[in-house]
Amino acid sequence: MSQEKLWGGRFTAPTDAFVEAFTASVEFDQRLYKYDIQGSIAHAQMLAHVGVLTPDECNQIVQGLNEIQQEIEQGKFEWFIALEDVHMNIESRLTQKIGAVGKKLHTGRSRNDQIATDIRLYLRDEIEQINTELIRLLNALANLAEAEADTIMPGFTHLQTAQPTTFGHHLLAWSEMLLRDKSRFLDCSKRMNTMPLGAAALAGTSYPIDRNYTAKLLGFDTVAENSLDAVSDRDFAIEFTAAAALLMMHLSRFSEELVLWSSAQFNFIELSDAFTTGSSIMPQKKNPDVPELVRGKTGRIYGHLTSLLTLMKSQPLAYNKDNQEDKEPLFDTIDTLKGSLRVFADMIPTIQVRRESMRTAAKQGFSTATDLADYLVRKGVPFRDAHEIVGKAVQYCIQNQCELDNLNLEIFKSFSPLINEDVYEILTLEGSVAARNHIGGTAPNQVRAAVERLRGRLYR
Ligand code: ARG
Repeated sequence: MSQEKLWGGRFTAPTDAFVEAFTASVEFDQRLYKYDIQGSIAHAQMLAHVGVLTPDECNQIVQGLNEIQQEIEQGKFEWFIALEDVHMNIESRLTQKIGAVGKKLHTGRSRNDQIATDIRLYLRDEIEQINTELIRLLNALANLAEAEADTIMPGFTHLQTAQPTTFGHHLLAWSEMLLRDKSRFLDCSKRMNTMPLGAAALAGTSYPIDRNYTAKLLGFDTVAENSLDAVSDRDFAIEFTAAAALLMMHLSRFSEELVLWSSAQFNFIELSDAFTTGSSIMPQKKNPDVPELVRGKTGRIYGHLTSLLTLMKSQPLAYNKDNQEDKEPLFDTIDTLKGSLRVFADMIPTIQVRRESMRTAAKQGFSTATDLADYLVRKGVPFRDAHEIVGKAVQYCIQNQCELDNLNLEIFKSFSPLINEDVYEILTLEGSVAARNHIGGTAPNQVRAAVERLRGRLYR
């Protein structure tokens, strides 16, 4: 195939060989081939619709492009660095296949509006897939939360035992974060779904194009209002990467808990063999590599977000070649994110919960001390005084190495005469979680209701 530059006319000397490789993007932007072809087909159909191409010319172009797509998908397409990017590789091949008509495809268009369109089409598709993976993960969390609605575990603040909670309730904290992530992606997808085509290089085109026609063919909601903006800004890619960084931040925190919980010291869960690895020296080891890697990969996405922000920060209008650098961070963000979501959605249902260990841990650390204070408040003691009284009782327990519910009534009464036999009920773990019986609380029946609501919110 001819590797002649499609822009060679004004040049007399060839491109330096290293510069050719340095400026090329085809090694990575070939990933966009499907969207490039989809955009080209719509563009050609619009040109025929307005009479710039004849119906026959349009048919030849569309057929040629469809064949090229097959060649690419069958691994028969040869990509050339000399042809720089995905756009010119496909266009050259088209002309090679169908002759001079192929040279008409680029009428009223530039690679600048072409690439801005390709990335939007691509991201729109990827967001669909990310959304599907997120729903799968959220469903796995809903199922586990439902199964563990009654499972008592210690809730932490400062990683110190705070109050008893249920494992189901704890898991639903993660699903709330992931639901917000999901809505961020969908929101970003809506905003990016506007069509740059027609902006051409920067100022529009002198042909009688019908942008709404092309937009309809490509499923864009609107056409970009300003041609300079359309070809130059990559805020939509930054917005996507920011949403990805937030999602990875959540998965990283979740990973951290899985790592802690699966340690011998916590022993709250066991990750399945399929999602752990061994040590080459220590025979007993079962390492939580999957959550550790997700935690580690989060840094990459933060880096990509910084790269993209920095890429744009000093660019004058309109298109600059700098923008070619948007692709690798974006592609790696997508691959990393999809991989992390996939592995999480697969791993969550395989988690074995060590309910007894969780319960034993919840008994420690005076986790029901707040319940005792609330009990006194219900008997008329101001909260601050109740806090002080319970603090003294805890101090007594520490000195005597016992738990609050080991104290007999006589001792309890020495702290407050208002304490009666019914105190023992409120000091139980079950009593403590059941008491937090309101929307957003940890009571098992509230957790079950929240799971039901969560299932209904997944597809909105
Ligand atoms: N490979 C380029 C990019 O990714 C395509 C647009 C190039 N346009 C240009 N005038 N050099 O941004």
